[in-house]
Amino acid sequence: METAREYFFDHYDEFFSEVFWPHDKFTKIGAQAIPKETKKILDVGIGTGKFSYEVSKLYPHILITGIDNDPRMLNKAREKLNGAKLILGDFYSESLPKSDWTITSMFTHHFREYERKSNLLKIVNSAERGLINFDMQLRDGETQNDAIKLILNHTRQNFPEEKLEQIMYALKERGMNMSLEKTREFLLEQIEYEMNQNDNIIPLSQTREIFSPPLFNLEMLAQAPPYFVYKATHLNKNP
Ligand SMILES: C[S@@+](CC[C@H](N)C(=O)[O-])C[C@H]1O[C@@H](n2cnc3c(N)ncnc32)[C@H](O)[C@@H]1O
Repeated sequence: METAREYFFDHYDEFFSEVFWPHDKFTKIGAQAIPKETKKILDVGIGTGKFSYEVSKLYPHILITGIDNDPRMLNKAREKLNGAKLILGDFYSESLPKSDWTITSMFTHHFREYERKSNLLKIVNSAERGLINFDMQLRDGETQNDAIKLILNHTRQNFPEEKLEQIMYALKERGMNMSLEKTREFLLEQIEYEMNQNDNIIPLSQTREIFSPPLFNLEMLAQAPPYFVYKATHLNKNP
């Protein structure tokens, strides 16, 4: 299914915002939570640079460093972020540069459970002043399977029809001929596959343990669609 994966990669920003609807909104709110006197930020697992881009629009003076192990993602980030330092490197083996504020979005669910605490602490320790971590989270008593089902359901019901048509035609051009309904199911299978491969969604109880005490919690859960246990934690070590 390389053709479909390529398609989704080419349309990463667009696709991500459509499927995980709050992403755009939360990166904007997240950027606003960073104090304006901040001089440097580090974006861990920067991807295509969406979160840092929101920060740079708001505060053009801030020095941005981003790290990611996927060169294609970094190339997309480079298009958005003039003057940022983008490090092609593996989070697990690189030591992280110090920042005033570290931001990370949709990255920490990649950690396997047994290594989660030390990795989260590595991120926390890179930041001198504050940290914003956006990620999915399991509510108390919820399993990853429950969360994935909710996400797929939400996507099945809310994926914009015209976007689905576009995807259908684009896949057709790449030799995959499917009806609209088949395209929808195919899309959902892709998401399910990706989530089962890569995601270890963090239970809320563990986040409480690592990010305790969160001095400031962005009140976003209420704004997220019900499937998405999206959580932003903002620590202020040395206010
Ligand atoms: C779901 S994407 C999120 C990207 C971006 N932060 C956002 O919110 O759109 C996760 C990113 O983490 C990167 N990543 C995964 N494992 C990594 C690792 N071991 N070291 C560095 N980056 C990694 C991936 O390449 C990808 O760009």
